[in-house]
Amino acid sequence: MVSIAVFASGKGTNFDHIAQYFASSGIGVVKLLIFDQKDAPCTLLAEKRNIPTVFIDYKTSGKENAELHILEIIQKEKIQLCVLAGFMRILSQSFIQHSGIPVINIHPSLLPEYKGINSIARAYNGNTTYTGITIHFVNERIDDGEIIFQKSILIDRTKTVDDLEKLIHHIEYENYPVVIEKICRTIEKKGDNNGKLSITR
Ligand code: GAR
Repeated sequence: MVSIAVFASGKGTNFDHIAQYFASSGIGVVKLLIFDQKDAPCTLLAEKRNIPTVFIDYKTSGKENAELHILEIIQKEKIQLCVLAGFMRILSQSFIQHSGIPVINIHPSLLPEYKGINSIARAYNGNTTYTGITIHFVNERIDDGEIIFQKSILIDRTKTVDDLEKLIHHIEYENYPVVIEKICRTIEKKGDNNGKLSITR
C-alpha cells in the first residue's frame, strides 16, 4: 500500500475525490492532508473522512523551515508520494531532492500555456481553441516539470466561463486519482525510475 500525502490550500475538492477513490483501493492510502492556509475548507473535508491534517505555517516560519517541517513529516509518516492538489506554494529544488519521492501537481490548463492563477478564465478569454488539464512532476518553477498526463477539451464560448470551470474540475476529478493510482503501481513495483512514468493520451 503506497502512502500518499495530499497538499492543498483552499477548497480541497480534488483532495476529496482522491481520498474517496483511495478509500476503497488496495494500492494506495491517503495518509494525511498538508495545508498552508488556516481555516482552509479542505480541512473540513479531511475531518469528515477522518484523515489527519498537518498545518504548515509558511507565514511564521518562512519557506525554508516550512519545507523542513514537511520533510520531517514525510519521513515520520513514511510518505511515498506527494500529491499537490490546489497547493498554492512553489516547492524548492532542495525540498524536491531531499524528499526522495515523486511530487506531482495538477493544473487546469494545457501546460505550458496559462501557468499560474486564473488559468481557466484566461484561457476562456484568450484566443485559444482548446484548454484542459495537466498532471506533471513538480520542479522548483511554477506549474512546470515533466508532463505525465494531459487531457484537452474544446472551449465552448456559447457557454459561460463558470460552465468551463465546472467541466475542467470534472475532468480533474475523473483523471487525477487514476493517474495517481498508476504512479502508485509503479512505486509498488519498485521501478528504478522512482515512480516516474509516462502516460500517453
Ligand atoms: C484545481 O483546479 C487545481 O487544478 C488548481 O487549483 C484548483 C484547486 O481546487 N491548481 C492550480 O492552479 C495549480 N497551479 P480544489 O482545492 O477544489 O481541489
